[in-house]
Amino acid sequence: MENKGDFQYPHTFVLLGASGDLAKKKIYPTIWYLYRDNLLPKNTKFVGYARTKQTVAEVREKSKKYMKVRPGEEDKFESFWEANDYVAGSYDKRIDYEKLNQVIFKYEKGPVANRIFYLAVPPTVFEDVTVNIRNACVSIKGFTRVIIEKPFGRDDESSEKLSNHLASLFKEEQIYRIDHYLGKEMVQNLMTIRFANQIFSPSWNRENIASVLISFKEPFGTEGRGGYFDSFGIVRDVMQNHLLQILSLVAMEKPVSLHPNDIRDEKVKVLRHIKPIERKDLLIGQYVGNPDGQGDEKLGYLEDPTVPKDSVTPTYAIAVIWINNSRWQGVPFILRCGKALNERKAEVRVQYKDVPGDIFNGHTKRNELVIRVQPGEALYLKMMSKSPGMKFDLMETELDLTYSMRYREADVPDAYERLISDVFTGTQMHFVRNDELKEAWRIFTPVLKELEEQHVKPLPYVYGSRGPPEADAKLAECDFKYSGSYKWQKPTLS
Ligand code: BG6
Repeated sequence: MENKGDFQYPHTFVLLGASGDLAKKKIYPTIWYLYRDNLLPKNTKFVGYARTKQTVAEVREKSKKYMKVRPGEEDKFESFWEANDYVAGSYDKRIDYEKLNQVIFKYEKGPVANRIFYLAVPPTVFEDVTVNIRNACVSIKGFTRVIIEKPFGRDDESSEKLSNHLASLFKEEQIYRIDHYLGKEMVQNLMTIRFANQIFSPSWNRENIASVLISFKEPFGTEGRGGYFDSFGIVRDVMQNHLLQILSLVAMEKPVSLHPNDIRDEKVKVLRHIKPIERKDLLIGQYVGNPDGQGDEKLGYLEDPTVPKDSVTPTYAIAVIWINNSRWQGVPFILRCGKALNERKAEVRVQYKDVPGDIFNGHTKRNELVIRVQPGEALYLKMMSKSPGMKFDLMETELDLTYSMRYREADVPDAYERLISDVFTGTQMHFVRNDELKEAWRIFTPVLKELEEQHVKPLPYVYGSRGPPEADAKLAECDFKYSGSYKWQKPTLS
């Protein structure tokens, strides 16, 4: 925590785009929880900035329903809002940022003062905002850090342009690129599971592992967000960032140390071993309405009024990634993601090979290590065991670590809480470095271009289903066995 020492000094957290959706639903609640739990420097002020003319009271009103205030916390909640300010200004006029600078300056007593800028703004104003921060708002007596959210471009070229633009204004140590999956408990746990358990290290390779499936499923469609989504699609929205980040943590070599740059060096290295995805390794789908469904389920993607009628944007995708190194050659890493599916789930399944020399008449099933990111963090290892009693039958069971059972009292903070707190302390471990981003676009850009140029039509799947029926065949082709015979039972409190 290199900058814990700075906690005695004034800090200002500036939220640009303070009148938007992300701000009210996610960022205001997050900074309130951090404030409530005393995780921020004592002397932190919050300044919202956006085009809308409004008062702090109005900002408060809009975000009210997203902020939990428990009994007894009312006074603290009041003092949180007292520490807030709001400045209305345009995104492209330097003079407005000078006004913002004066407001921040007012709170900065003493020799040191730090500033953090959170850009919850649309990509169209990104360049203007960053240039103006650089010209009118950087701290003259402390650090300036900038937090940015995706989209970081839409292909290798536009992403590089953005990276060069940012690099011309700020040093890499000042830039915090959020991939909020890196703030999730089980994603952060991946390194511990792998590198603090001797049992896994020797088997984590092509000799023992048949395939790895990394999935993201959501039970709702674009509903109202079609405008943004349609120009990106599920591959850019979820796969190229969240799922690829998870893949690099599952597949990378052991870093030299836990230093953020040592970790990110290893993540980049494994990405460099991946060739761009080929068309044959990508399957895409788009949901259609379910006539028997309820409400939104009846409507397909193309019936969303914010989506062009002839859109071929995928809402579902499976990509098979091949890592060309000595640990993983030949092991398919399957990335699967989709909207409007049957459930909400994000998980990693590391499926081991069949036991060689079977003596159980083909009844053995594969071991599988399941790391459930959400909902309900869990880690379990599917195993074969003798069924208890006189019989000598085999049964599938599991070694199970379900967080809600084992750590009942533990408070698992939200991804954004951890990440914003990391920015205050200057910890870049869970943020995306420039070169990681570059590799991610290198892997995905050619196939995305091919889809777009050829106007490839996605396979239909019904809202609320498991995805296109062809997807199961794709998994089987990739040596991922799904027998359907095993059901993980949520442990019950005794
Ligand atoms: C975002 C995507 O990055 O992640 C959304 O843009 C998606 O489309 C969201 O819904 C999922 O995040 P979470 O934390 O709810 O799994």
